[in-house]
Amino acid sequence: MAPVAPSPSAPITDPDHIPVLLSQVIEGLNPKDGGRYVDGTFGAGGYTMALLQSADCEVWAIDRDPEALKRGQALADSFPGRLHFLQGRFGNLAELLIDNGVPAVDGIALDLGISSMQVDDRSRGFSFLRDGPLDMRMEQSGMSAADAVNSMHESELADIIYKYGEERFSRRVARAIVEARKSRPFSRTVHLADTIRAEVRRSQDGIDPATRTFQALRIYVNDELGELERGLGGAERLLTENGRLAVVSFHSLEDRIVKSFIRDRSGRSPNPSRHLPAPKANSGSSAFSLVNTRAITPGKREVRDNPRSRSARLRIAERTSAPYLSAIQGGGT
Ligand SMILES: C[S@@+](CC[C@H](N)C(=O)[O-])C[C@H]1O[C@@H](n2cnc3c(N)ncnc32)[C@H](O)[C@@H]1O
Repeated sequence: MAPVAPSPSAPITDPDHIPVLLSQVIEGLNPKDGGRYVDGTFGAGGYTMALLQSADCEVWAIDRDPEALKRGQALADSFPGRLHFLQGRFGNLAELLIDNGVPAVDGIALDLGISSMQVDDRSRGFSFLRDGPLDMRMEQSGMSAADAVNSMHESELADIIYKYGEERFSRRVARAIVEARKSRPFSRTVHLADTIRAEVRRSQDGIDPATRTFQALRIYVNDELGELERGLGGAERLLTENGRLAVVSFHSLEDRIVKSFIRDRSGRSPNPSRHLPAPKANSGSSAFSLVNTRAITPGKREVRDNPRSRSARLRIAERTSAPYLSAIQGGGT
């Protein structure tokens, strides 16, 4: 398949957004005329548009951010009857699709995390570089990052910063947050970023010390890892035989979940040694087969043109005919 480039004539929701690993995702999903595909993370619609342009197929686009879907309306108008929006979480993708009369699909794409539109909009509170309300809620409802840092117990805060931010100085950061909020509760991103910077020195690689704590809070507030686990299970339930799952992750916490799900559900146990051949899959009951054994990463050119793609890892798996795990265990349909 030829590399996919957004068509200049199609309405792009955010001209500044460059979809990550676009050709590889579309090639991996291998869209066919008459097929049904799910874009579980619509964002600026980059994958959705490429799918709609690659084959005469239908796309069900999900995003938990109402703003993203509002902006995508023009795209739906230019592909009449072929693009359907569902506002919600991909953790519920099977339920969302089944409730809308779609019991099975031919491919599912997940491009994890937040979009450049969300980071760049200071009013959403994701950025530690631009001052804004300390929010970070993709859905714009529920507990905000400010609620979390102003109410959580110090040890709980430290655990979250350590677990989701992989911050070595998590205890020190949590202590500083708890101390600072006594005199002034947190409501702005820059107040939090400056509090962290006063505690943790910039590392040699130049990464802003606030990066890891902001990542941790975002993951926590949006339950991103729980969403991913539920979304992968939903994909297994919804994909038809030979249907493809393509997941792009941006940090090791996500990639670990994707990798171990695909490995477990394709009947592969971890290789005891890299000097030995990979163990054979137990194909009889495996729900997936691997399309690529190693994660696909962007080439030098993509990283140069779109530095956001730097840490991206794409994993692709194909659904077999094996029944959905919970159905075997009597838990699902
Ligand atoms: C990285 S962007 C996707 C970009 C998209 N692939 C494109 O090319 O424009 C991630 C999007 O997924 C959404 N998102 C993240 N987690 C989600 C979840 N659990 N359920 C639904 N949408 C989610 C975010 O709101 C954001 O709009």
